[in-house]
Amino acid sequence: PFYKAMFGLSELEEKIRRHFGLKQVVIVSGDSDESPVTRRELGRAGCSVLRKDMKDNDVIAVTGGSTLAQMAGQLTSQAPLKNNLFVPARGGLGESLDYQANTIASTMAKRTGAQYRLLHVPDHLGEEAYTSLMQEPNVREIVEVIRRSRIVVHGIGDAMVMARRRRVDATVAEAMQAEGALAESFGYYFDRNGAVVHKMLTAGLRLEDIMETEVVIAIAGGRSKGEAIAAVMRFGHDDVLVTDEAAALEIASII
Ligand code: G3H
Repeated sequence: PFYKAMFGLSELEEKIRRHFGLKQVVIVSGDSDESPVTRRELGRAGCSVLRKDMKDNDVIAVTGGSTLAQMAGQLTSQAPLKNNLFVPARGGLGESLDYQANTIASTMAKRTGAQYRLLHVPDHLGEEAYTSLMQEPNVREIVEVIRRSRIVVHGIGDAMVMARRRRVDATVAEAMQAEGALAESFGYYFDRNGAVVHKMLTAGLRLEDIMETEVVIAIAGGRSKGEAIAAVMRFGHDDVLVTDEAAALEIASII
């Protein structure tokens, strides 16, 4: 394609980095939509970014999804990270077990000799049940820990794909779409300008926490996610983007 001929991957990284004011952009070659090899490489690139950013005594919050699961399955550490704590960024978001943030956090911790704590908040809670659950001392305590994470690693999805996967109520999904929902990340839905148009009722990191988090790492690839990734970058609180060539070309074509 045009951009590939014009720029190497490092020029593309720099173009996207500068446009969104990010600290770092890492692009792996290929298209995660098409290639399992690219999906694996994307996960691996996420691991090296995280390894480089982690320090002793860190709390690391992670979201769910297949991309984070790819990353979790490849995370290693030379010495056990005994003093690091992995936690899920948000509570239940309607994902299957393998893709739940709790599963990702525990896998990452077990593979690196770190600690983990889980957040047991079921999906589809009514407002009342949610409010009383949030008053439970155990839930409150872990939520406090999550909100103090120094590092957040999160996936990005296409809004309608994620709404379907998480069985969001059809009328809610339609309303979101009417409001221009394009991207989903950590349970929040964003329009093309990075404005939040909907959020899922669950405990854990809020947008205001993410705005304060020292290191926010996004990991997402595939041509189909290009627009969604750009939307979340416009939200503007990420520090690092790990993506693939196909998504990056799509992003470059709309910025
Ligand atoms: O928030 C976005 C999703 O977690 C992304 O899921 O990595 O399976 O596409 P995925």
